[in-house]
Amino acid sequence: MISRRDLFSTGAALAVAAGQARAAAPKNVVIASANGLRACQRAMELLNKGTDTLDAVIAGVNIVEEDPEDNSVGYGGLPNEEGVVELDASVMHGPSRSCGSVAAIRGCKTPSKIAKLVMEQTDHCMLVGDGAGRFARACGFPEEDLMTEKTRLAWFAWKQSLHTFWGPGIDAPPAKKNALELKRLFPHADDDTIAWAQEVAARPLTGTINCVALNTKGEMSGVTTTSGMAWKIPGRVGDSPIIGAGLYVDQEVGGAGSTGRGEENIRICGAHTIIENMRHGMSPKDACLDACKRVARNFDNDKDRLTKVDINFYALRNDGVFAGAGLWKGASIAVNDGGLSRLEKLPWLLER
Ligand code: GLY
Repeated sequence: MISRRDLFSTGAALAVAAGQARAAAPKNVVIASANGLRACQRAMELLNKGTDTLDAVIAGVNIVEEDPEDNSVGYGGLPNEEGVVELDASVMHGPSRSCGSVAAIRGCKTPSKIAKLVMEQTDHCMLVGDGAGRFARACGFPEEDLMTEKTRLAWFAWKQSLHTFWGPGIDAPPAKKNALELKRLFPHADDDTIAWAQEVAARPLTGTINCVALNTKGEMSGVTTTSGMAWKIPGRVGDSPIIGAGLYVDQEVGGAGSTGRGEENIRICGAHTIIENMRHGMSPKDACLDACKRVARNFDNDKDRLTKVDINFYALRNDGVFAGAGLWKGASIAVNDGGLSRLEKLPWLLER
């Protein structure tokens, strides 16, 4: 028998106590970061067939992990400072309250699948670096080259932008424009790709994909997967594989995740903070804005310093209500609650 105390320890009871009555019947809903339109679509198709929520979101983000054109996730993600792609991912399965993650894993396009295997096939929650790679090989995943011609170009542009021995000097006279040097080495790259490479060399990306699903049984799961910060020090781990930072799911309340500069999210345990905010009655939107405020507070709300930080939060409550918030104006959330996936603008804390 459930005691009165047990009853009131649940998120639902606390929310009701806080005056936030929830809709009764859960529905299929998938949310993701803005690069997750196709992920939401795929996950929704699978939810509609009765696939488990975790399998659905992993199949969704696999599209992005395997896409060489998304340079912040999986294959084609921008590499570390040595030109090696290192990936981070985490998964949480609401029905079994279990989780798994991998960090700084090399040679595997789909780290979300390895994170799930850590969850299912080991007595650990997290594997990192070489150990994570060896575990992937043991599970039958072949070693793959994750660099593309485009990311090698970007890495090369970054190396040259450091003005060390990489690039023209006394021994090789400089061309009038850096772009000409790159064009000589990468003759197949068009002007737009070279301009893009120079842009990411100057302003490194911290993209990622986070995806969370709810099904009609009220079950919830989530995944976050990334290549992390471009040009990072080898071994750097961001927020994405940190359970409670880049991802948290408690299906008694909801699921939450983040994209952007992981260091700032780790400092506030963003996803867990959002879930606990919602457990205590905050709406998904206010819970995400509160996470943004905590990031800003760590910079004493100094807007000048905060301009270097880009971070967004996403939340799906177990009644299907979803929201997100960006530290800065301009971010979006992908959602599929039936039909086609769409993007919605996120509320924000600061304007540039
Ligand atoms: N949020 C991705 C990272 O910072 O690694």
